[in-house]
Amino acid sequence: MRKFLSLVLAFVMLFNLCGASFAAPAAKKIGISMPTQSLERWNRDGEYLKAQFDAAGYETMLTYSDNKNDQQVNDIDNMISWGADLLIVAAIDGDGLNTVMDRAAEAGIPVISYDRLIGNDAVTYYISFDNYTVGTLQGRFIEKALDLVNAAAAKKSYNIEFTAGDPADNNAGYFFNGAYDVLKPYIESGVLKVPSGQTEFQQVATAQWSTDTALARAQNILGSYYADGTVLHAWMCSNDSTSAGVAQALDSDYAGDNPVVLTGQDGDIANLANIVDGKQTMTVYKNVANEAVVTLEVAKAMLSGEVDGAALAKTFPVECAYDTTSYFTSPGHYTPSFLLVPTVVTKDNLNYLVETGLYEMGADGYLKSK
Ligand code: GAL
Repeated sequence: MRKFLSLVLAFVMLFNLCGASFAAPAAKKIGISMPTQSLERWNRDGEYLKAQFDAAGYETMLTYSDNKNDQQVNDIDNMISWGADLLIVAAIDGDGLNTVMDRAAEAGIPVISYDRLIGNDAVTYYISFDNYTVGTLQGRFIEKALDLVNAAAAKKSYNIEFTAGDPADNNAGYFFNGAYDVLKPYIESGVLKVPSGQTEFQQVATAQWSTDTALARAQNILGSYYADGTVLHAWMCSNDSTSAGVAQALDSDYAGDNPVVLTGQDGDIANLANIVDGKQTMTVYKNVANEAVVTLEVAKAMLSGEVDGAALAKTFPVECAYDTTSYFTSPGHYTPSFLLVPTVVTKDNLNYLVETGLYEMGADGYLKSK
């Protein structure tokens, strides 16, 4: 009996030992702070990021801050108190998170600036798409659609207007500059005219990327400069939420029956419907599911020690550049960045979206989210 008991005891001790050595380590905690649920893309980002990290065994806290900087500061503070091991932040205001970023740095929590760059050196990595290229694609699209290269020789000129994004969003300037740099020579040569005269970023910016604000400004411009029958040929919009406002204004306040070349960005469902209906001409699509995949891989590497960014970027299942010279959080303080590649989507290649597996074509001819 005694022999039996000591055998049981030995077994229990062995079991405990094994238990101790094989117990799963406490899951690392990931704070995911997204700006707002009012725009389609951030819902997708939040959903994909959370799903990726949950599936990889991390504990996640996901917040949306209703486009309010104070709320985002509060949300990030909560993540710090919760004991986050890493923060993923898409900033509402790139310069509005300074103090909370300092608190994250004091607590030793690394930060991934997600999609939008935060102006604070606490940022460890920046993960986004090539934002300047997004704008370049929009500018080149207009250049090609209006055949601007041959316009001067053909003695033709065209009218264009601009709508950019939120000045608080670091991306907005990159998008605008990317497009404007392509179109500027044509404006300077007189091939492109801007009847409103509004070509400065601050004049054409849209606080919070609001559809209503873009709509009101477009109605104003159409009423002031096009009501006399002046023909509008193109409207460069930096993204889909603003493009939706401009498309609505063209519907209600533009008498011309020519199709206006109208750009966008994101591939929001409502805008894809506008593309099918001919009310928007293109969108620059950014696969945010891939952005989430890259973010998971970078986070894993960060949490397990040193990151060799250039080597890591080569291991991703999607095309992504490692860039250490384009973005900085303060003068001279460059942020290592992982930049994915955007794609132009028009009526002619909507199937590209279906092929991502994230959209499906409805029987009515409109794309739906899967
Ligand atoms: C940008 C983002 C775009 C667009 C916009 C409005 O920062 O890169 O994809 O969604 O914000 O939310």
